[in-house]
Amino acid sequence: MNIDSVKAANAKFIWHPMAHPRAMEKSPPTIIARGEGVFVYDIDGKKLVDGMGGLWNVNLGYGRPEIKRAIMDQLDELPFYSAFRGTTHPRAIELSRRLIEMTSIEGMSRVTFGSGGSDATETALKIARQYWKLAGQPQKYKFISLRQGYHGTHFGGASLSGNSAHRSSYEPMLQGCYQVEVPWLYRNPYAQDAARLGEICADLLEREIKSQDPATVAAFIAEPVLGVGGVIVPPTNYWPLVRQVCDRNNVLLVADEVITGFGRSGSLFGVRGWGVRPDIMCLAKGITSGYVPLGATLVNERIANAYVGDESGSGALMHGYTYSGHPVACAAALVCTELAVKEDLAGNAARQGAYLMSRLESLEKRFKLVGDVRGKGLMACVETVADKKTRASFARGSEPTGKIAAAAYRRGAVVRNSGSNIIISPPLVIGQQEIDLIADALEGALAEVEA
Ligand SMILES: Cc1ncc(COP(=O)(O)O)c(C=O)c1O
Repeated sequence: MNIDSVKAANAKFIWHPMAHPRAMEKSPPTIIARGEGVFVYDIDGKKLVDGMGGLWNVNLGYGRPEIKRAIMDQLDELPFYSAFRGTTHPRAIELSRRLIEMTSIEGMSRVTFGSGGSDATETALKIARQYWKLAGQPQKYKFISLRQGYHGTHFGGASLSGNSAHRSSYEPMLQGCYQVEVPWLYRNPYAQDAARLGEICADLLEREIKSQDPATVAAFIAEPVLGVGGVIVPPTNYWPLVRQVCDRNNVLLVADEVITGFGRSGSLFGVRGWGVRPDIMCLAKGITSGYVPLGATLVNERIANAYVGDESGSGALMHGYTYSGHPVACAAALVCTELAVKEDLAGNAARQGAYLMSRLESLEKRFKLVGDVRGKGLMACVETVADKKTRASFARGSEPTGKIAAAAYRRGAVVRNSGSNIIISPPLVIGQQEIDLIADALEGALAEVEA
């Protein structure tokens, strides 16, 4: 196929997630054809620094020979075998052990696998409900999440995701899902002091649990740093206070680490940065740096013991996927998780993230379109506003972010436009020079669009 027919075939045959099919005909998506290090090349041969790291996941960059080798070796040795009851294979065993060792600070004890982030959160929700049945409290079935949270697109995760656009076409959603306020310093009616806001939002969670009746609430699920919702970084006291609220009310705490896992927020896991031990952790994305699909759900001893100690016969996890613990994905993850530690991705994310923020903060000062910049590690957001003083947002659909992202692209950087936000989440192996390429492209793009 020549390039033009590839482009034409795209709109004709693929339904892209989160896109109207007709919009894809009018403004076709970029076709990325090749990647190397922190750079990608589009189908026309244009070289771009990948300011999105794929979709928050290509932490180790493109073309890593160690990952390719592990995948090829595994394809030779055993391309597939099932980890359902009765069989397993060495890579799944090795990876489960590795993940439990890596999360020993968080106190994780067992792991079960899926093929991505939505699987990981869906699995967490089902485990939480089953746990309470095993613990003799089957009436604890409700879930609470954050209003701007994102937990994937399966029915459970979508029921807990904050953006109504992810729900409205599929309602009615899962019963028993409720949402509480995010501690979002830039946009909240409560407090301009971070610590005070953390207290208030933890209190709002406790009030919601109490109003639902703690005897009916199974779990609270949240991202350690909210990603898709606009890189909302909670105040440092928030997660420790949330842990206390969950403990006081006998509610499980689920950390959705699909984006933050393996270094992105500047610590190996997002909750580690907050010094908190959750009951369940959801991992995906960086676990294989995007080379092959994999997700994992980890549980602590309290939950594992309820299953292992069950005498009623209901302690089997009646949930899983053909590709739970796929050997090729596990082989890739074994290398990626080792490299994440060896190459100190978390440390680099913290250092380069601080530099990125310093560049973005200068944009906030210079451009009237930029209302707020925020981030932690190598996840950052530039929020555009119609009025900087009042913080008024653009009307939905009239945000300038599409134009800004397109102008940044012409200048050689991929950044993501999402509503009024420009999101930046490059590979965690990025260096200062390449951060400068992203920041320079964005600066030029803002100047162009503002003019
Ligand atoms: C926090 C979080 N949870 C879950 C998901 C869903 O992951 P996936 O798209 O791999 O199903 C995402 C995806 O971006 C995410 O950011």
